[in-house]
Amino acid sequence: ERPEALPYDLAGVRVVISAGGTREPLDPVRYLGNRSSGKQGFALARAAAQRGATVTVVAGSTADPGDPAGVEIVRVANAQHLSDEMTKRAAEADVVIMAAAVADFRPVAVAESKIKKGEAGPAPIELTTNPDILRGLVESRAAGRIPGHTVIVGFAAETGDETGGVLDHGRAKLRRKGCDLLVVNAVGDGKAFGTEDNTGWLLSASGTETALPLGSKTLMSSRILDEVRVLVPDEHG
Ligand code: CTP
Ligand code: CA
Repeated sequence: ERPEALPYDLAGVRVVISAGGTREPLDPVRYLGNRSSGKQGFALARAAAQRGATVTVVAGSTADPGDPAGVEIVRVANAQHLSDEMTKRAAEADVVIMAAAVADFRPVAVAESKIKKGEAGPAPIELTTNPDILRGLVESRAAGRIPGHTVIVGFAAETGDETGGVLDHGRAKLRRKGCDLLVVNAVGDGKAFGTEDNTGWLLSASGTETALPLGSKTLMSSRILDEVRVLVPDEHG
């Protein structure tokens, strides 16, 4: 569906968005990856650009997202590269949105040459934890390496489990990450990954909780940007 007439309310606002998945290398030809399509990040980029923002997308692995007009696209392979690019670019951004599906873990060792099948059968793959880019951005802002006015937005894909529902996990994650807004997607049953429609909540650090009813990623993007706009100080937009 098409959202109502688009406001032009992000003119002069610099927005950096991460999108897609990361690929953590095992050897020159293999990686550990995920199914993120990048659609939500690219939909946000398109919507922000249409509202006048200067937009950069730092993109990992994606399905063909099309080419949003007037958006700068920087390609990265793995979580470490994504972290480097986001940290660098956040220093000159008014809004930073972590829509990427960052691998939580990466192989400890990357083989220099292709791993052979051999006679002994498969060796276990030892993993180590990737840096938490979103938390790192929040910490950098607190330390003054990113301007204090910069709005930081995270995403979370959650299912309910025996410890709580989607919203409980979302609230806990917002506190843990320390970002200004957290977009919580309810997943499971084929929802969200690679699909057109999302559903969930928009949670803010100030305590507001807005339901995001089932709708396209385009509609969801405009809802997210409406809330982001309120948090951008006027002299930066
Ligand atoms: N994220 C990040 N760096 C990571 C992992 C996640 O910046 N190493 C960001 C994602 O881009 C997203 C947010 O953090 O904006 C939440 O990601 P999620 O995977 O839901 O959070 P985790 O802290 O990894 O928790 P979980 O155990 O639920 O995966
Ligand atoms: Ca994770």
